[in-house]
Amino acid sequence: TDPRAEVARLAADLRAALERHARAGRWSAPGGASPRSAPSMVEAAVMHPAPDAAVERPDVGELPGPRVRLSLAEVRAELGECTRCKLHATRKTIVFGAGSPQAPLMFVGEAPGADEDRTGEPFVGKAGELLDKMIEAMGFARGDVYIANVLKCRPPGNRNPQPDEVASCGGFLDAQITAVAPRLLVALGRPAANTLLGVDAPISALRGRFHDRRGLRVMPTFHPAYLLREPDRKRDAWSDLKQVMAELERLGVGPIRAK
Ligand code: URA
Repeated sequence: TDPRAEVARLAADLRAALERHARAGRWSAPGGASPRSAPSMVEAAVMHPAPDAAVERPDVGELPGPRVRLSLAEVRAELGECTRCKLHATRKTIVFGAGSPQAPLMFVGEAPGADEDRTGEPFVGKAGELLDKMIEAMGFARGDVYIANVLKCRPPGNRNPQPDEVASCGGFLDAQITAVAPRLLVALGRPAANTLLGVDAPISALRGRFHDRRGLRVMPTFHPAYLLREPDRKRDAWSDLKQVMAELERLGVGPIRAK
């Protein structure tokens, strides 16, 4: 893992722990000063989201804490007109995510490209057309699944995401996964797989088997943009997706169509 991302995560963990202690009356700041005011429920959940699919909303009256499951609308509201990293200066549109908020299956890509930056929708360019075909071949429609990216803003020239950008944006992807609570995740390409799994490995070393992400199973596979350049690898990607279909069937999960 990237050391800066690790430090940011540790700092967020520490802050959340101190605030939990403060709320429970077990800690006060040195010199008797009160700790920084507790974060809003939304801010806390984005900084330190609940384990995926594990935590329901707190009962009314329970103190807001970091182990909170927000709705997608709440996560989007917290993101706001984000200026947390340098990409805000060059983006046209924030690309938050799209699809069913109760999707059993979620796809995570890398970052918006030019078409997505223009329209605000993930995966609408050439790679998106191929992703739609892959989703349909699995028996789903695009609207049955949820599609998001590691980064919500386009990196200039479609360069790879940088560690500080992933660190700024990562909490929002975590919160989206917690909100949707899919049964399975598909990571499209190396940056998505490495971010979701906290590793630094080529996609060819990760794809083809399920990995665990805090209790949620993740299938890494090739990014559709790579498949457009290397169509011979479509066979491998399809074999990965067939494993996902078999696992969904084993879980008794079909498409949940939005009414
Ligand atoms: N590539 C991605 O990784 N995400 C998009 O939304 C579009 C292209």
